Amino acid sequence: MRMPNTALCPGPILGIETSCDETAAALYDGGAGLRAHTLYSQIRLHAEYGGVVPELASRDHVRRINGLIRAAMTEAGVKMSDLGGVAYTAGPGLIGALMVGASVAAGLAAALGIPLIPVHHMEAHLLAPMLETPAPAFPFVALLVSGGHTLLVEVRGLGQYTLLGQSLDDAVGEAFDKTAKLLGLPYPGGPELARLAQRGQQPSQYRFPRPMTDRPGLDFSFSGLKTAVLTALKPDASEQDKADLAWAFQEAVTDTLTIKATRALDASGAQRLVVAGGVGANLRLREKLGELARHRDVEVYFPRQAFCTDNAAMVAYTGWLRRGEGQRADQRLFTTPRWPLSDLKPPQLQALQGIE
Ligand code: KG4
Ligand code: ZN
Repeated sequence: MRMPNTALCPGPILGIETSCDETAAALYDGGAGLRAHTLYSQIRLHAEYGGVVPELASRDHVRRINGLIRAAMTEAGVKMSDLGGVAYTAGPGLIGALMVGASVAAGLAAALGIPLIPVHHMEAHLLAPMLETPAPAFPFVALLVSGGHTLLVEVRGLGQYTLLGQSLDDAVGEAFDKTAKLLGLPYPGGPELARLAQRGQQPSQYRFPRPMTDRPGLDFSFSGLKTAVLTALKPDASEQDKADLAWAFQEAVTDTLTIKATRALDASGAQRLVVAGGVGANLRLREKLGELARHRDVEVYFPRQAFCTDNAAMVAYTGWLRRGEGQRADQRLFTTPRWPLSDLKPPQLQALQGIE
């Protein structure tokens, strides 16, 4: 990987993440790498509503963010005056939640007279595996699987992204969450469903389709799977039946992702697969992609589980990379609920064109 120009990026970058239901801060710099990361999950706040309540999320970000930034600075032994820039998640995400992180970041950057760096949440997920050792080198195929996105992306370099495939309906994390709800599991459904599936009998009495794998192409469709589970779920289903359903659902999803990721590697000729986003924490998916790596001549990279789900380490790192590559720092505050990954440009181009 070409390393950024550290002369352009002198001090540590503070990263701030508030796009959904996790409030997080982190510090990254070129010499020491990741120096600290702190996170507060709002899971308990939203649990009684069965999903994220945007207004409550925004208010809780306001309550937590300053303490988390202070804790990260203390852990890293970094003073405000040492900072080289402030990076924040500008989108996609819940607009009120994004505004909290953006406002704090803009205030800090203005007060300290340092660059303000807007970060694309999905680009940050995509680059998160680079925080690990060994880090994947460009080019690679990224399988981005979160609550809002299911994307296969060819990554040739920073900001050089070609969308190969995406979900035509529910994102894979959303399918996990909705199916978990049908099975009577609490929010957040994905990890709960995965836990229940561990008690499922194999082979399961149920089998669900692997959607859109019987025809060429790299797009996904997951909404039918949830309906298939609903149809199979009898009113008198036992706990074992539910565990068997959870296992069969997880098998169908993880097989589908594995089949499409293999096709994307073939289509692009890449030798490396990078998996990121919340569903990347799923152990069965990790197992299957691990097998894929063993059977074919490819390398598969995952971030650690804590960096699969939302975190600020990936935001600080992405901000550091983009700033170091000469992205123009613009003190204007920028947030957007929708922001296609394909709109991102390499920093040099973005510097010329601005980001709006
Ligand atoms: O990336 P993320 O933290 O937030 C978004 O940007 O969406 O992803 C959250 C999604 C949720 O849908 C959650 O249920 C799912 O990731 N998830 C999982 C697991 N851990 C989190 N899905 C399946 N198995 C897991 N172990
Ligand atoms: Zn995310």
